Amino acid sequence: MKKRVGILISGRGSNMMALVEAAQAPDYPAEIAVVISSNPTAPGLAWAQQRGLPTVALHHKAYPSREAFDDAVHAELVKARVDLVALAGFMRIQSGAFVRRWAGRQLNIHPSLLPLFKGLHPHQQALDARVKLSGCTVHFVTEEMDSGPIVAQAAVPVLEGDTADTLSKRILVAEHKLYPHALALVARGQATAEGGGVTLGATEDPAAQLFSPQL
Ligand code: GRF
Repeated sequence: MKKRVGILISGRGSNMMALVEAAQAPDYPAEIAVVISSNPTAPGLAWAQQRGLPTVALHHKAYPSREAFDDAVHAELVKARVDLVALAGFMRIQSGAFVRRWAGRQLNIHPSLLPLFKGLHPHQQALDARVKLSGCTVHFVTEEMDSGPIVAQAAVPVLEGDTADTLSKRILVAEHKLYPHALALVARGQATAEGGGVTLGATEDPAAQLFSPQL
């Protein structure tokens, strides 16, 4: 049985597109059950609608509180019989209650090698730190932002003359490979959140959690 995935977006949605494309493969272990956007004018939402995917636009400004918005998101996920949630450029901080409801079943992608450069402007943070290597991380969502158990990471070089824009474009290419791969690991039950880390199934090659693209 394929796992049913709800994708939460707020904007461009390129990671959502990568997950949708990956889920087209007959042997992919997950299917996209619903795309929910916190922003009714998100380009990613229009793309998903054009593809004929089930979509929901919930404008966060229409709700009196964070909790009320999160309850509405939760209700839509339940309605779509979602097993796993994938955050893909979802720009809302979630309430503790929502995070706890989906504990061990909700993933996020962040464009840095966590725990470095959490939060906003991770590409600029990487440039300011003069690191030679950055990348992206798929992790389970916990109440502390960008801090949950790490499912998989991809390393991406930082090159001379990079700007936040050029670095983010290079990392995005890796994100689009890493996220479908990490979601598949979780959907197959091969990567599970345990004791603050991620346990990989015995049959899975440890390399499944690492991507190191060539220069
Ligand atoms: C990506 O860089 C992702 O890692 C971060 O937000 C950005 C979203 O881009 N969380 P997109 O909407 O998936 O194109």
